[in-house]
Amino acid sequence: MTSPTGLQAPPPPVLDRCRELVEPALRAAVRTLHPWPRRMASFSLGWCDADGLPGADAGNGGGKGVRQALAVLGAEAVGAPSEAAVAGAVAVELVHTFSLVHDDIMDGDERRRHRDSAWKAFGTGPAVLAGDALFALAVETLAGAGGDRGAEAVRHLSCALRELVHGQADDLLFENRPWTGPQAVDIPAYRAMALRKTGSLLGCAMTVGPVLAGASPLLSAALAEAGRQLGAAFQAVDDLLGIWGDPESTGKPVHSDLHRKKKTLPVLAALASDSAAGHRLALLLDSDAPLDAADAYCAAGLVEEAGGRAFTLAEARRHVAAAHDCLDSVPLVPRTVEELRALSEFLIDRRL
Ligand code: IPE
Ligand code: IPE
Ligand code: MG
Ligand code: MG
Repeated sequence: MTSPTGLQAPPPPVLDRCRELVEPALRAAVRTLHPWPRRMASFSLGWCDADGLPGADAGNGGGKGVRQALAVLGAEAVGAPSEAAVAGAVAVELVHTFSLVHDDIMDGDERRRHRDSAWKAFGTGPAVLAGDALFALAVETLAGAGGDRGAEAVRHLSCALRELVHGQADDLLFENRPWTGPQAVDIPAYRAMALRKTGSLLGCAMTVGPVLAGASPLLSAALAEAGRQLGAAFQAVDDLLGIWGDPESTGKPVHSDLHRKKKTLPVLAALASDSAAGHRLALLLDSDAPLDAADAYCAAGLVEEAGGRAFTLAEARRHVAAAHDCLDSVPLVPRTVEELRALSEFLIDRRL
């Protein structure tokens, strides 16, 4: 698979531009940590190998940097200088990395960003500590922005984190729910979970720049909702890549959601299709044991046959359209809105 749409959009230049702007402050923040969590954090950010040696990274080891880019673009969209967003960009990228370090423990995933996940490389206890360190650093960085705006930004971040935890809790609890029948997870429940689990932090990313720059609440709120919708689109594509992605590109394993029988959108949509393939899929999933490799491969075929892949891509597009409507509902800098549109196209056509 090239990308969920088969098109394969190249990463837009804005990701590199924002990385160059934000990375010095991100590195300066991480340097303040105790050496051990500093090494684990630097490893998770793709800056060094597990022994702390720099330069061992290949490709996209530090992640795409989507959240830091949204923070910078949020500030630019309200006409503020990019620099106004840097503390916010650092904070959301740190929180994102923290959430991935802990998420891999919760999901039992052994690979992340083309390398061992932090718990696999360092052990679960140390990885929990590294996540805590990243989280603490994020709050400290944002609070350091100072004044009423810094305090307001910290409030937005805390609120996003509470929502993220809510979404993660639902995501984990969904694992124990049946695939069919009255207790099954339906698509509206999935949607609410994804808006919280992933939409919350993308929403915070897009609003933190405007908040730090002192933009009007109307603009900040429109950007926050645009980010939330982009987050839901992003999660739908993440679910697609978890089944049809190429680990060489994504840097994380394929089919791990299927093996663990996670309630991802392509599978839920296939089951809801009431098709022959959907019924066969339900039979395959309805055993107590995890799926083995052959079953997961078969399940992926049935999900596609039942329309789960097409539904999920259409769902991602609906969320992106909703995000664009939010951007169009308020007066923003047109050139930045164009960049945000280009970035959102990449988010649904990506293969990484
Ligand atoms: C992965 O996010 C986790 C989700 C919220 C779906 P990304 O795909 O943005 O991860 P990196 O930062 O590029 O590694
Ligand atoms: C990650 O969700 C979202 C958060 C860490 C809050 P997933 O578990 O679906 O993401 P991946 O597939 O592991 O990156
Ligand atoms: Mg995960
Ligand atoms: Mg997870």
